[in-house]
Amino acid sequence: MRLLLNLLALSSLCISSTFALSNSTSWLTFDHLYRSPKYKQTTVSRGFIYNYYFSPATADKPTLLFVHGFPSFSAHWIHQINFFEKEGYGLVVPDMLGYGGTSIPQDPLVYTHPAQAKDLIEILDAENLSNVVAIGHDWGSATVSRAANIYQDRFLGFAFLSVGYTPPDTVSTYEQRKEAGENELGYANLGYWAFFAATGAAEVINQHSRSLFDILWSRDPALWKYAWAPVGALQTFLQSDSSTQRATYISAEDMSTTERILTRGGWNGPLSYYKNEVSNVSAEADEVVPLESYTIVKPVLFIATAKDAVVVPRLFVRPVLELCPRSTTKIVNTGHWAFWEAADEVNRMLLGWLKGL
Ligand SMILES: *[C@@H]1O[C@H](CO)[C@@H](O)[C@H](O)[C@H]1NC(C)=O
Ligand SMILES: *[C@@H]1O[C@H](CO)[C@@H](O)[C@H](O)[C@H]1NC(C)=O
Ligand SMILES: *[C@@H]1O[C@H](CO)[C@@H](O)[C@H](O)[C@H]1NC(C)=O
Repeated sequence: MRLLLNLLALSSLCISSTFALSNSTSWLTFDHLYRSPKYKQTTVSRGFIYNYYFSPATADKPTLLFVHGFPSFSAHWIHQINFFEKEGYGLVVPDMLGYGGTSIPQDPLVYTHPAQAKDLIEILDAENLSNVVAIGHDWGSATVSRAANIYQDRFLGFAFLSVGYTPPDTVSTYEQRKEAGENELGYANLGYWAFFAATGAAEVINQHSRSLFDILWSRDPALWKYAWAPVGALQTFLQSDSSTQRATYISAEDMSTTERILTRGGWNGPLSYYKNEVSNVSAEADEVVPLESYTIVKPVLFIATAKDAVVVPRLFVRPVLELCPRSTTKIVNTGHWAFWEAADEVNRMLLGWLKGL
């Protein structure tokens, strides 16, 4: 608790700043980046195609594997791609399963995090990469957590944005996790999972997608506490076609590219991540991890998002403290999408940590 208070005190020192393009070769928009010839495809042993931005490292710099979450796609990492490519880091930035140019299977069972972690290893194998740091955001942090548990030797370290290191959990039900959040926070931060896992959720989202995009990238992150998180709240927000002002850190053009890519892929794939948590599929999949692999001995960076009403920093502090002996924790004073909203600050935090590896 004292650590948490220190973290929150620190957060007042963090001033978010907008990203300045300083190199004319930088990608200008999501669309510009997404059409780049630096995208490659690899077919993994499960038969799925992964679409990913690839850039080789210069000299002895490591390669950074950026793993996005819900709902997102590779080009959302534009500020990290522009920044770290100039710094000489290699980049592997996939569209994760269910998104963009990667396969979008309709069977939720194939979306478990250990299976996706293996897919990522096969991409690294295809590129003959050995010097790799994995960086996850949101569900990407869960996949990176399993990559750390199962393939720890393949990486130099692991960074987690918003969602921290998430150890395997083979016992808790969704109801128990929802109640734990509610007891800790006074509201059910995971209440929306029930809607996302329910039959028909994809259709509801399709019919009311403008409202979904509004709240996903709402100007006021506090709205998530009332209109997104609690049981039934998001469904009500969508079905009443509610709207809210969008964040200013995304241009109208980038927002429209985001809507186009996510809508085209449909929602059955992305919602699978939630279905597996609400059923016991995710818990069963986690049984492949032996207890001794719950500890991450490689360096870990956790960048928490102070204004995130769903992924609340204090819910993730304990696993990092207890299971990551070489961890560094930072907090940025933003909502969930810190890697856009405070791109400069997040990039500098990552760079400082990477230089110490
Ligand atoms: C921009 O970055 C590229 C490498 O990505 C480099 O070759 C070029 O010299 C840089 N240009 C400027 C103006 O910094
Ligand atoms: C990886 O190494 C193998 C064996 O040396 C080679 O055949 C393959 O072309 C390499 N792949 C890449 C992407 O460099
Ligand atoms: C998960 O559900 C299946 C089918 O209902 C059941 O057979 C299995 O024992 C459950 N596993 C766990 C870990 O609860």
